[in-house]
Amino acid sequence: GSGADRDDPKDAQLAAFRSGPPEDAVVTTDQGVRVDDTDNSLRAGERGPTLLEDFQGREKLTHFDHERIPERVVHARGSAAYGYFECYASLSDLTCADFLSEAGLRTPVFVRFSTVQGPRGSADTVRDVRGFATKFYTREGNYDLVGNNMPVFFIQDAIKFPDFVHAVKPEPHNEMPTGGTAHDTFWDFCSLQPESTHMLMWAMSDRAIPRSFRMMQGFGVHTFRFVTADGRGTFVKFHWRPKLGVASQVWDEAQLTAGKDPDFHRRDLWEAIEAGNFPEWELGVQLVAEEDERSFDFDILDATKIIPEELVPVRPIGRMVLDRNPENFFAETEQAAFHTANIVPGIDFSNDPLLQGRNFSYLDTQLIRLGGPNFAQLPVNRPVAEVHHNHRDGYGQQVIHRGTSYAPNSLNANQPHQGGQERQAGVFQHYQQRIDGDVIRRRSGSFSDHYSQATLFWNSMADWERRHIVEAFRFELGKVETAEIRERMVGNLARVDADLAGRVAEGLGMPAPEKAAEPHHDRTSPALSQDNLLPGDP
Ligand code: HEM
Repeated sequence: GSGADRDDPKDAQLAAFRSGPPEDAVVTTDQGVRVDDTDNSLRAGERGPTLLEDFQGREKLTHFDHERIPERVVHARGSAAYGYFECYASLSDLTCADFLSEAGLRTPVFVRFSTVQGPRGSADTVRDVRGFATKFYTREGNYDLVGNNMPVFFIQDAIKFPDFVHAVKPEPHNEMPTGGTAHDTFWDFCSLQPESTHMLMWAMSDRAIPRSFRMMQGFGVHTFRFVTADGRGTFVKFHWRPKLGVASQVWDEAQLTAGKDPDFHRRDLWEAIEAGNFPEWELGVQLVAEEDERSFDFDILDATKIIPEELVPVRPIGRMVLDRNPENFFAETEQAAFHTANIVPGIDFSNDPLLQGRNFSYLDTQLIRLGGPNFAQLPVNRPVAEVHHNHRDGYGQQVIHRGTSYAPNSLNANQPHQGGQERQAGVFQHYQQRIDGDVIRRRSGSFSDHYSQATLFWNSMADWERRHIVEAFRFELGKVETAEIRERMVGNLARVDADLAGRVAEGLGMPAPEKAAEPHHDRTSPALSQDNLLPGDP
């Protein structure tokens, strides 16, 4: 609805930006000049040429010509809604995050769900990962939890992201397929990059074809940190659990819905909210003490690994309800800018090399996607917390800043924080971690175990879930034209499970595979000897 909800500070803020024509509105130019005719261009004589003098006509065409902005380089297709997060109980023993400080405290949120591979106009029900990005408009600034509906990722290091995305996007010569992963470049990359194997198991499972955004889990994927007021850290993984439970479509259903209603997920979310049938998720955390960082047989900084819930249970900390549809897709859903580095006091990063690269990439891409450095001023991105800084000017500046813009300053400006090293409530301070090491490019030893958790995943599946996974591999690899790629991939699967690999091979008309040799390109593996391990490496 368009009526501002005064209990929701974000909605109240947005009200100031909403614009619709009053009843007796007459069309004007951008300059507010009333226009007599927007249907006929100005011309010389009844059948003569159009005149450059027609500033109204030119303005109308020019604005239209500039309506498009680049779509997101990944996660281009998305659907979003507003709502609130409600904290169950104070977590001040774990984090000083204000939005987690008080039972019943509500924080406005904006959530965007997305597919990864397809362009803005692609179908919803394709086989793909789904983005699950949440912006919390907290009283101490915006916090973005930019997650997916699967708990792991295809790569361990952000420096590979351009390669991965070039491989998963449509083939460069014919721009096919515009949705899904059934093509050579994707499988070529994954088969040569066995760290993707665990994620591939998820991507070939039913999780990759959700029944509805309302029936998807969400994961922060990386290990993050909670930080208390006195500077104590605890590692944390975030989990969203849908109240409706997790549900998927079977493959044939997904084909039908993609054909009959490519907006199937978008429509489902929109209509549920319009009907007052508000989707809800519970936020849970897995917590690992700082001193237990190295007590697992995988590295908690490795985004291709989960922390099994048998080892660390998920503790519920709050719930989220989405209860309001956006009013303008472009203004809100398209211009929303999520960023893993948007964190608030009480939350911090870990040294996961995938996360570290993301912390660079989102702001960087948004500078071009949203046309310059002032996109935080766009209504959907504005914090409800007060903003004061000495950043100035730039494309699209909306603020008339008064006073000077430098510090130190004895005249009039936003003064830098005076607290020194002392921790102060509501002020972000980086977690103080001691780092000691050589400058290197290699990773810790357990980063090169690419198969154990893929096997764990396969072993946890019921018979029918396994059948769906086998059928997915058969279909996807069946679309791959290059025989060597199919063979290499099935060879990798043999390292996950012989039965899985055998059944996929059979479907592809291939002989039962041998286990693949350790791929030569994986530069961490051959170099790994005991004395190469870092102290404390598992
Ligand atoms: C967009 C999740 C890895 C670069 C997104 C979005 C999500 C997401 C949910 C869509 C945000 C929205 O709805 O607007 C993830 C997850 C990752 C991951 C969970 C791994 C755990 C990466 C990496 C990079 C990257 C490694 C680059 C180094 C981007 C870019 C966008 C994006 C450039 C487009 C952002 C925009 O244009 O606003 N990602 N991503 N992502 N992601 Fe990631």
